[in-house]
Amino acid sequence: MYTDPIDKPRPLVTVPALRSRKHNGEKITALTCYDASFAAALERAELDIALVGDSLGMVVQGQDSTLPVTLEQMVYHCKAVARGLRTPLLIADMPFMSYRDVPVAMDSATRLLAEGGAAMVKVEGAGWVVDVIKALAERDVPVCAHLGLTPQSVHKLGGYRVQGKLEAQAQQLLEDAQAVSNAGADLLVLECVPAELATRITREVPIPTIGIGAGAGCDGQILVVYDLLGLTPGKRPRFSRNFLQGHDSIEAALAAYVEAVRAGSFPGPEHSY
Ligand code: KIV
Repeated sequence: MYTDPIDKPRPLVTVPALRSRKHNGEKITALTCYDASFAAALERAELDIALVGDSLGMVVQGQDSTLPVTLEQMVYHCKAVARGLRTPLLIADMPFMSYRDVPVAMDSATRLLAEGGAAMVKVEGAGWVVDVIKALAERDVPVCAHLGLTPQSVHKLGGYRVQGKLEAQAQQLLEDAQAVSNAGADLLVLECVPAELATRITREVPIPTIGIGAGAGCDGQILVVYDLLGLTPGKRPRFSRNFLQGHDSIEAALAAYVEAVRAGSFPGPEHSY
């Protein structure tokens, strides 16, 4: 039967589809999401990825860091998001200490995928985390690695600061990116790293990179959705932009973000380090 192209359903965003995007030089659009209503808005705006980030500890619960977020809470928010979402890839953060060793990581990932409805889990760091990534990937659990500013390490890092500015740190980040990719990660979030370094990592690893405060050279971009709407209290982070300014609805702001990322006009140098 003839179908109007406008009615053609949007294909699901899958792990292989994200790889093709990198290969074809098409930018990947991602946002955090914590509930069904925002999930439906992300669906309408045709985002590629919805991340149930443990940033919910800060922007939803009002905590000082992401550390108090529990696996139970992540499963709860994941379920809510999954109900509002159809086509974007749903990624769930593994919260603090929920992947502290391989058996615990297996149990946590099982809950996020089987109960929460996620299609991928995200873990922060390299080093010992590489073994966790390898074990999950070997069991066909898609994994997103997260390097640079890793908020679960805030106490060790001494605050939320740009990472990889010194040559030795930059070299370590490059090696960590190779290590997580070789271990089987499917995606790599780079948070708050100099744009030049993020561009180099993006060129050197085969998996797509998603930047937040990492410049326009990454394969895609992610923001905390409340930052994008200017809702987060306090000072706006340098890497973020209030897309609601100049637009009269949340829908229009999301559409403007998607368009700007796809066109490569966001982030600009003023949002990068
Ligand atoms: O928890 C989160 O929202 C994140 C993004 C900032 C990438 O990890």
